[in-house]
Amino acid sequence: MATTEVRIFESIENVYDAIAGEILKTTQESTQEIFDIALSGGNSPKGLFKHISEKYAKTIPWERFHLWWGDERCVPPDDEQSNYKMTLDLLLSNIDIPEENVHRIKGEEDPEKEAVRYSAEMEETLNARGKDPVFDIILLGLGDDGHTASIFPDQLELFEYKDSCAVTQHPLSGQKRITITGNVLNNANQIFFLVTGQNKSLRVGEIMNDNDAAKLLPAYYISPKNGEVIWFMDEAAASKI
Ligand code: 6PG
Repeated sequence: MATTEVRIFESIENVYDAIAGEILKTTQESTQEIFDIALSGGNSPKGLFKHISEKYAKTIPWERFHLWWGDERCVPPDDEQSNYKMTLDLLLSNIDIPEENVHRIKGEEDPEKEAVRYSAEMEETLNARGKDPVFDIILLGLGDDGHTASIFPDQLELFEYKDSCAVTQHPLSGQKRITITGNVLNNANQIFFLVTGQNKSLRVGEIMNDNDAAKLLPAYYISPKNGEVIWFMDEAAASKI
């Protein structure tokens, strides 16, 4: 059964320091050689990646990490919409990490084929628990509609999906996405939600207060069977708990 912890911070820099500290702690408390972490996209991680580049580039042992993505937009890697490009610009270009440790979702490829390829790469590379790959850490955001990764409210079936990845579509923009699915998300050892800003407070409140409305939100179903969920938030995002 998942354990859930909520950490609320006055400043957004403290939120970032807390996440970076947990990433560092994971390596310091374990003799495990390699840690697999899946990153989120969108806007929230931008500040985190900048902060980590400025303050933790030399302290986190990047050679012990393999970086993956929880989702990607179906665009080329040099597109401003690309989660990989955002991460390259704000983090990867500032840290020493072997190229072979970076596993991007190839947004430029045929979405259905890339979902199959990325599933296979995860299943061949990651440790497994049961039939599903295991991430040591998955960083997730929370959409204004309660989506997480690229599992949107009309796709809750992706929490019981046969494959490790699926092709989805943003309900407003129609943009195609590739997302890791629920069986992998809920097989993680640690899930870190990074949620900041007043615009997230409604959905955070619904989820934390276990409202009926929460049961329509994909983020509500993030509950790793053998892991823990830590919500890293600022006071604005947590204002309706
Ligand atoms: C993406 C993200 C997505 C994001 C939420 C929150 O590709 O957009 O993975 O799941 O985490 O939409 O987005 P913001 O951080 O931009 O609010």
